[in-house]
Amino acid sequence: MNTLTKLVLGMMGQLRPKPVKGDTATSISLPPPEKHGGLPLMEALVKRQSSRDFAPDPLPMQLFSNLLWAAYGMNRSDGGRTSPSALNVQEIDIFVALPSGAYRYDAKGHELHLVASSDLRRITGYQDFVDEAPLDLVYVADHSRMNLVPVGQRESYASVAAGAISQNVYLFAASNGLATVIRAWIDRTVIADALGLTHDQQVLLSQTVGYPKAVP
Ligand SMILES: Cc1cc2nc3c(=O)[nH]c(=O)nc-3n(C[C@H](O)[C@H](O)[C@H](O)COP(=O)(O)O)c2cc1C
Repeated sequence: MNTLTKLVLGMMGQLRPKPVKGDTATSISLPPPEKHGGLPLMEALVKRQSSRDFAPDPLPMQLFSNLLWAAYGMNRSDGGRTSPSALNVQEIDIFVALPSGAYRYDAKGHELHLVASSDLRRITGYQDFVDEAPLDLVYVADHSRMNLVPVGQRESYASVAAGAISQNVYLFAASNGLATVIRAWIDRTVIADALGLTHDQQVLLSQTVGYPKAVP
């Protein structure tokens, strides 16, 4: 669906998810992440960039598992994560829009839990590439976990936390030959409705990930 159509449908309150094709699992167990390999950090930084041309091919399960762990997985026995949060409140949840449904990433179990059995990819942003790329991540702040943070700081701290996750994804993508772009041009209300979020949960940003489209 092109951007103009999305904008018009959005204004009419008619921008809707697509039905899924095939089966939708209620949870997806991810294989243990591979925590070695990849490019040296400085070489990944050289390659880091935003890309907006995606092939539709799904990521192999192991690569998908590694991606989510790199983004926001648990990297310490005390429950610490691969990205920081103020007072370690870990207020961000990652939702993943896949062709088979939308899922919340559970870092402790390193698994995905179904939250919507529709294909939400096209509603994760106004840009057309989000529809066909194999996955769109949505970063959501849960304000109910931020009681220790002063109210006036909550949104900015959560945005910083989401930005740190986003950069992990950028570096993972650079290291693994994937394309990615962080996106703020999204309809937060439509996404929140589709994900069934509560009033405590705030959609911050979305990020598309996939293989780069082959140049003809
Ligand atoms: C907060 C934020 C919001 C962004 N929103 C969008 C967006 O909605 N759509 C998009 O295509 N790129 C978006 N970008 C990506 C920027 O356009 C991109 O980072 C910038 O052009 C620099 O390019 P580079 O990432 O390749 O260095 C966003 C970046 C940031 C940090």
